[in-house]
Parts: sequence; structure tokens; C-alpha cells
Amino acid sequence: MSGLPEASSFAGRVDGLFFAMLVLSAVVMLAVFVTMTVFAVRFRRGRNVDRSGESHRDLGIELTWTLIPFALFVGIFAWSIHLWIDMRTPPADAETIYVVGKQWMWEFQHPGGQREINTLHVATGHPVRLVMTSQDVIHDLSVPAFRVKQDILPGRYTDLWFTATRPGTYDLFCAEYCGTDHSRMGGSVVVETPAAHARWLAAHASGSLAERGRTLFTRYGCAGCHDAGSSVHAPRLEGLYGSTVPLADGRQVTADERYLHDSIVLPAEEVAAGYAPIMPSYKDRIDEADILALIAYLKIRGTERESPHAPR
Ligand code: CUA
Repeated sequence: MSGLPEASSFAGRVDGLFFAMLVLSAVVMLAVFVTMTVFAVRFRRGRNVDRSGESHRDLGIELTWTLIPFALFVGIFAWSIHLWIDMRTPPADAETIYVVGKQWMWEFQHPGGQREINTLHVATGHPVRLVMTSQDVIHDLSVPAFRVKQDILPGRYTDLWFTATRPGTYDLFCAEYCGTDHSRMGGSVVVETPAAHARWLAAHASGSLAERGRTLFTRYGCAGCHDAGSSVHAPRLEGLYGSTVPLADGRQVTADERYLHDSIVLPAEEVAAGYAPIMPSYKDRIDEADILALIAYLKIRGTERESPHAPR
């Protein structure tokens, strides 16, 4: 239907919806233009026709031309909302890959510690969730063959997910104007069979992302306050990820990626209840890729003794 390959589980569905909208628009446009042309010819100047117009109202016709288009357009709306919700809801078993966009490159970090620039390796048949942020301006990750596209903002995490279905190499673009080399801020997604992908992961393993996070945790001195033996009254971080945190101002937040990130760069914003706002900000001291590694570590902190090589 289009020249683009359909390489994800969304591609066929997006194309189906797009095609349905195209056909519906074409039918409406044809109906309008055919009627216009017929009327223009029939009622042209000098033609001897009845121009008195309808004098009575026909409720049946009024309802028909109102309700049928209404049903069609609401149908399209319901169809697209359904697809949109699916595209916004990553399955729980999706593999998380972290993405940092910056002028003008893409940096990808796999949970196993594999890092890539401008190329992303994924396997067919397994859902992948990209958690993305920017180190400078707004970018936008777009993979046309997957029919996915998502803005990437500094100071915020956005995500998108897909299941690749067809091995191959597909273009990846930045789809938001971000400065001089925006048009060259691209790369490719390499989709491999699960076996080939496992080989690629094994060949590029270098200690998991969480392990790198653990090293950074020590290097940035986080342990000095947050470890069990510390004399500083700082929140314990074991099992924090995913829990509900009561804040000093009475609100409650879920300790998700966003909360952990902001607690590192904007610690004064959401102080945990019962603690003094003494944590210094690490804004501009840790880059976004390292913050993501720290978050990967915080996700397993507390469980690591039982399973030293937890996958994420
Ligand atoms: Cu990054 Cu355009």
C-alpha cells in the first residue's frame, strides 16, 4: 500500500487506519465534487429548469445525511483511539532500552550494558520499550518502518514501544528540527532474529547497565549518604523503585524513572517526608546516560545480593 516496509506489529494496523481514512475522505470528496459538477451543469445560466427549491422538509433525509457521516467519523475516532492506547501501553515484559538524544547523535544503552551510537540492535518478536530523554534541545525519534515516532524532551522521560517483526536494517530519523545538523541526526535500527540478536548481545556485553550504575553510585559519592552505615539522615534506596513515596509537602509520588531522575538533578523539588532538603543537585554534573545507568542500578538495589546479575 505504501513504499515503506511494514516491520513492526503496529505497521499494518497504522497503515490499515490510514488507508481507511484515505478511502473515507476520497468517498466524501468524490460525493461533494460529483454533486457540485452535476448541479453546475444542470443549473447553469440560460438553462430552463425548475429553480424553486424544495418547499418541504424530509426528516428521513436529514437524519440519514447527519447520522451516517457521524457514525463513520466516530468509528474512525474509536478505531484510532484504540490503536493509540495500544501504542501508548508497553507490555510488562518489554525490554527497556535507554535512549539519549543530543546534538546531533543518538546514544542507546541496553540493560546488558551494550552501548551504541546511532545504531540500535533489536530482536524480532520481542517487545522493546525505549525510555528516552534529551541532553540539550527537543529531538524526536522516528522509525518510519515501525510507524512509531515520539518527541524527546530535556528534563523529561518519554517512551515508545514496538515489536519488530521483520529482520532488516531500517532508517531512524530525528523528526524535530534541532539545529544545524538536524537533517543528519539519523541512524538505523538493525532487526535480527532472536538467535542472531543473542549473539550480538553476547559479543558486545561489558558488564550490565546496572553494574555500571553501581560503579557510578560509588564514584559520585551517593553511597556516602544513602548507604546503611551512613551517619547522614538520607532516604534508603533499597526497593525504592516502583514504591509510593510520601513527600514533605504532603503529596505522594510513585518512584518511577521520572522521580529518580528528578531527585538527582532537582532534589529540592520533591523531598521525601521526614528528610531535610540537604541533597545537592547533580544537574550538569552527571550526564543523562549516566543518570540512566544509576536508575538501572536503583531498580535492582536491595535485590542484588540474591541475584548479582539481575537483568535490569
Ligand atoms: Cu535532533 Cu532534529
